[in-house]
Amino acid sequence: MKIILLGAPGVGKGTQGELLCQKFNIPKISTGDMLRTAIKDKTDLGLKVQSIMASGQLVSDEIIMALVKERISMPDAANGYLFDGFPRTLVQADSMRESQIFCDYIVQIDVADAEIVARLTGRFVHPNSGRVYHTIYNPPKVLGKDDVTGEQLIQREDDQKSTVLERLKVYNNQTMPLIDYYLTWSKSSDINKPKYIKVSGSGSVKDVYTDIINKLT
Ligand code: AP5
Repeated sequence: MKIILLGAPGVGKGTQGELLCQKFNIPKISTGDMLRTAIKDKTDLGLKVQSIMASGQLVSDEIIMALVKERISMPDAANGYLFDGFPRTLVQADSMRESQIFCDYIVQIDVADAEIVARLTGRFVHPNSGRVYHTIYNPPKVLGKDDVTGEQLIQREDDQKSTVLERLKVYNNQTMPLIDYYLTWSKSSDINKPKYIKVSGSGSVKDVYTDIINKLT
């Protein structure tokens, strides 16, 4: 199973991605998580992208494509994977297609902008695993601690309100065109076309998950 989760920042791609990967036993490939790990480890890549991410802008297509191609060549991705936050530009989507990286499903998740701001400004993450929580909507069992490891949760640097608004603008300008791109492809006669699914991300985490599963099968 190969899935692309498509949607604005904060619609729940990471949250649903985690559940779908458990269900289908595939790795979650989050370009955002990979870049944040590089920043935490202070690698050359991390130093290069830190200020770009903190400002809410996109990292270059060349960097992202190199990261993704290396990641999907790893043994755990042999039987499928889920992309969370990739592709994010038409250049990335075209580059995937040219490289014969095809997916079975595009899952578009939709949430109103006002709800997104509330979600992101209340989000806490476990940096090592990418698990996400929310102070109100999805709280950890123990305040400030990861449910699985008990380690400290942190707030992302790009989750301040002004940066969230900038990220939404970037999404509207650079990523939203992918909706038409994939919808058109899904209706074509191409044998490699993906199936296109759209769900509302506004219900509870469980309801959104059930909706996706029902539409996938
Ligand atoms: P990335 O890490 O991909 O962030 P994003 O797309 O902005 O998405 P988020 O992680 O913010 O949100 P999400 O949809 O995963 O929501 P979540 O499940 O956490 O990218 C960060 C940066 O990296 C980019 O700005 C860019 O600079 C760079 N980058 C990454 N990929 C790139 C690429 N391909 N090209 C170029 N640059 C790239 O949920 C959000 C909150 O809501 C959580 O608190 C959660 O608990 C809560 N929540 C989830 N579901 C529900 C629900 N149903 N009801 C109530 N609350 C909910």
